[in-house]
Amino acid sequence: MLRKKLLVGNWKMNKTMAETTAFGHASFELLRQAKEKHIDIGVTPPYLSLQTLLNINPKLIIGAQNVHHLPKGAYTGEVSIPMLKELGVSWSLVGHSERRTYFNETDESCNLKVLALLEAGMTPLYCVGETLTEFEKGVTKKVIKKQIDVGLKGVKDVKEVVIAYEPVWSIGTGKNASKEIAEDICGYIRGLLEKKYGADAHLVRILYGGSVKPNNIKEYMDMPNIDGALVGGASLSVESYAELIENM
Ligand code: PGA
Repeated sequence: MLRKKLLVGNWKMNKTMAETTAFGHASFELLRQAKEKHIDIGVTPPYLSLQTLLNINPKLIIGAQNVHHLPKGAYTGEVSIPMLKELGVSWSLVGHSERRTYFNETDESCNLKVLALLEAGMTPLYCVGETLTEFEKGVTKKVIKKQIDVGLKGVKDVKEVVIAYEPVWSIGTGKNASKEIAEDICGYIRGLLEKKYGADAHLVRILYGGSVKPNNIKEYMDMPNIDGALVGGASLSVESYAELIENM
């Protein structure tokens, strides 16, 4: 298998440190289960819980949900890459649609973050996806192309990037994209990468995200260009996380 399957739970603004501690203790069993099935697993907790989780189970992939592209400075409320690296955090989401919608992130600002993370030897999990209006207008591929072209501008080693296709209309709505739609766009993304990076495009893990649940994850995993899932709501409880792994 060219690409190892990957499951990432995006906790968003959920879980206190106490709740994270409970998940951390239960995560050894999740890791054992994932190892048996040859799946990489991880979570992106809020900043405050990163250290907590790293102390308990550093074998999980532990990522931040966002990062500033500059190493330090007068940017109240922001967290830098050296701060995360010091903790031992090696991944970060970039451009999640909630960041784009509520915090004005753009393809250009995402690009700065992707480049800064790669420069620091970290893994950016770059999120792309169209809004409902764009989907209904039939301009999904145009939107995705711009997000990929601009967001990954200047990236040399594309295999170090993980991409998540998350249609905005499917996130937290219970309206997951069909496996055909998800495969069509993930395949399209791989095609875009292939034009630019050749064979390396086949080493890039591309995830689907948006209302992925234990009862629908399998259909995505059967698709040739989908290598895993970025999961919000269904990643919060240990039981549901275990079911996701089981059904992948
Ligand atoms: P959801 O969120 O699984 O709750 O739809 C997905 C995401 O935002 O990554």
